[in-house]
Amino acid sequence: MSTADEVDLPVDDPCLGRVVVTEGALKKRIVELGRTITADYEGRIPLLVGVLKGACFFLADLARAIDLPLEIDFMAVSSYGSATTTSGVVRIVKDLDADLTGRHVLIVEDIVDSGLTLSYLRRNLMARHPASLEVVALLVKEGLQSVDLELAYEGFTIPPEFVVGYGLDVAERYRNLPYLATYLDPEQRGDHR
Ligand code: IMP
Ligand code: MG
Repeated sequence: MSTADEVDLPVDDPCLGRVVVTEGALKKRIVELGRTITADYEGRIPLLVGVLKGACFFLADLARAIDLPLEIDFMAVSSYGSATTTSGVVRIVKDLDADLTGRHVLIVEDIVDSGLTLSYLRRNLMARHPASLEVVALLVKEGLQSVDLELAYEGFTIPPEFVVGYGLDVAERYRNLPYLATYLDPEQRGDHR
């Protein structure tokens, strides 16, 4: 069992840089977000929409921190573009099961980088006539957004570096790390660490 103050990388992996958000900090912040959302949605039944795959750990923990009757659903999207940038052209790979008409929808996102994916999702879900539509993002990268995000809830602001863990991946790996760490591209890493 790791502690809230653990900052060393428990995994000896040369591709991992430093811990950006510890396991303890994640737990604490998600409990806070859950309390705020519980208060804000009192008397309503929110539908949490998780964006696969990155948001699945966050959604699982956040849902348990919300003390209200709620429902969950998932969608999967893939964006066209290079490995490190998003074009903003998003394809729905798996759509929701739920009908959003009249629902209080809360999009649960792992990380917002350019914001283009989220911007597309918001427009797409808004067209389905929800009673309300808000976004909770666990991570927001500093200063890179070209669009106005209007995030109702944000977990952490992080520097504009590529991070992995707690659902976030590189080629499907590292999602199971219980903390968030920077990922050092082997080609840019060199031998100086
Ligand atoms: P955006 O459209 O540029 O905001 O990109 C958002 C999506 O890109 C996220 O949902 C992630 O899937 C992915 N992404 C952006 N930054 C990172 C990162 O640092 N690590 C892992 N995935 C990332
Ligand atoms: Mg994603």
